[in-house]
Amino acid sequence: MIDLVKAEKVFKSYVEKYNTEDDKIELKIKHTYGVVSMSGFIATKLGLDEENIKLAKLIALLHDIGRFEQAKKYDCFIDSKEIDHAEYGVEILFENNLIRTFIKDKKYDNIILKAIKNHNKYEIEEGLSDEELLHSKIIRDADKTDNLRIKYTEEFETLFDAKEEEIENEKISDKVYEDFMNHKQIRCEDRVTHLDFWVCFAGWIYDFNFDIGIQYIKDNECIDKLIDRIDYKDPDTKKKMKEIKKHAKKYLNKVKLQK
Ligand SMILES: [Fe+2]
Repeated sequence: MIDLVKAEKVFKSYVEKYNTEDDKIELKIKHTYGVVSMSGFIATKLGLDEENIKLAKLIALLHDIGRFEQAKKYDCFIDSKEIDHAEYGVEILFENNLIRTFIKDKKYDNIILKAIKNHNKYEIEEGLSDEELLHSKIIRDADKTDNLRIKYTEEFETLFDAKEEEIENEKISDKVYEDFMNHKQIRCEDRVTHLDFWVCFAGWIYDFNFDIGIQYIKDNECIDKLIDRIDYKDPDTKKKMKEIKKHAKKYLNKVKLQK
């Protein structure tokens, strides 16, 4: 049995140990609840049973738990060789049995672990069970959907530690542009400028598993809001961003995924 009310209480007291006045921490808390709601929405639309809907929400509640220590230790959210926030989250939850404060029952441990571990990877690892794969797909779609919303609603300084004026004068790296136009997700290591990150966010559309997330992006015009947020000063970059938007919208209108 999953007791979500209790799990949310435990989560609330866990994050209270961190500086909730810090806008980065505050953003991650807001994002976590956004993903909980999106995961619940996706799981419900997929017709899953009550227990699996709760499990999807619990995974969402815990998926970024590694972010809080990451922010405290490194004051940033960029994963690196030293720290991958998903792996770190798994370590925090499972090495000292913190997971048992969120859920008494051990039977979902593997699903929770695999879904969290896989939520931020370029692609889902091979060899997962059907349930591990299903919940990995749900968290990946829910996380990307809420993360897109954040990119056009939060301050640039919170997202990047950079000012808007600095970002709008940047260019996009050739490889990043080419990958986007070839329907490839952008690899983290290829991102050089802040605008490369921006294109990478738009490129998440290529990694959705279910139609529900794609529909949300279309209904809420997430790509328009993301791309139109920046006043690109370099004429070539401006042209490229226009192409990216056109290309993304075309893709969103024709892609057919699992309902
Ligand atoms: Fe997340």
